[in-house]
Amino acid sequence: PPVSIIGAPTDVGAGDRGARLGPEALRIAGLGEALAARGVDVLDRGNLEGPRNPWLGPVEGYRHLNEVTEWNRLVMEAMHAELAGGRMPILLGGDHCLGLGSITGVARYCREAGKKLRVLWLDAHADFNTSQVTPSGNIHGMPVACLCGLGPRELTHLGGDAPAITPDVVRQIGIRSVDQGEKKLVKEHGLDIYDMRYIDEVGMKRVMEEALDGMDDDTHLHVSFDVDFLDPSVAPGVGTTVPGGPNYREAQLCMEMIADSGRMASLDIMELNPILDRNNATALVAIDLVESLFGKSTLMRD
Ligand code: ARG
Ligand code: MN
Ligand code: MN
Ligand code: MN
Repeated sequence: PPVSIIGAPTDVGAGDRGARLGPEALRIAGLGEALAARGVDVLDRGNLEGPRNPWLGPVEGYRHLNEVTEWNRLVMEAMHAELAGGRMPILLGGDHCLGLGSITGVARYCREAGKKLRVLWLDAHADFNTSQVTPSGNIHGMPVACLCGLGPRELTHLGGDAPAITPDVVRQIGIRSVDQGEKKLVKEHGLDIYDMRYIDEVGMKRVMEEALDGMDDDTHLHVSFDVDFLDPSVAPGVGTTVPGGPNYREAQLCMEMIADSGRMASLDIMELNPILDRNNATALVAIDLVESLFGKSTLMRD
């Protein structure tokens, strides 16, 4: 289907400022052109406009809850509108708190269209904190919990009268940093986590086979790609680097296998922080990977 690029230039949910520049860095690195060169019909919708980052401390365990809510509402509507119009949305973050609005919009579309939803959450972090256990108050550490109904009502019920998803919809890949209280929560809620230990032991190939298993023609696959998923040696331009992530080859295989599934119908590219990058290198790596997501491979096809 045709693709729509949507920029969400904010870092209200993050602990560093700079992710607000992510959409422009991805455009300058040539995201739209790379997709067009693959034969994708792509339209850049420009940027959403939301509240500024007030840059304040946590209040009752949350930083910038009102601003985060407003940005997520905008993102939810934009993602939903593109899908309802028959287009594949690519959200350019912005910090990962916006995964909440993105997936809430996608889930609403799936309900209306009678589709099943599968979410691949590519990340160093589980993003399953709550106000009680967060070490930072940064809401980019909470979107998966909010999607599953844990959190403040304005976020857990962003899409209406129920949380957007249940934990069984989610597969998390690349995880290597989970906070103390967060660990308890992901266990309690039975999140399907392919952490780095597991990737080391069985390899990315089997991990992706398992994470993509059980989808059919009626499954909408949403990929939420937090750029800190990647090892910092390939992707230094993010606020919350964690050593020991997938290397370039492993990440490529991950993306290629998603492409082979033929199910990806929406995508987030999140947390790119050009202030922390070197010569936009991280944006360029992200685009390499997105090309693979859209079917680029060396020999198999063109
Ligand atoms: N777990 C840490 C926190 O809650 C870091 C979260 C990082 N999340 C992200 N989307 N980069 O503060
Ligand atoms: Mn709508
Ligand atoms: Mn994240
Ligand atoms: Mn992360």
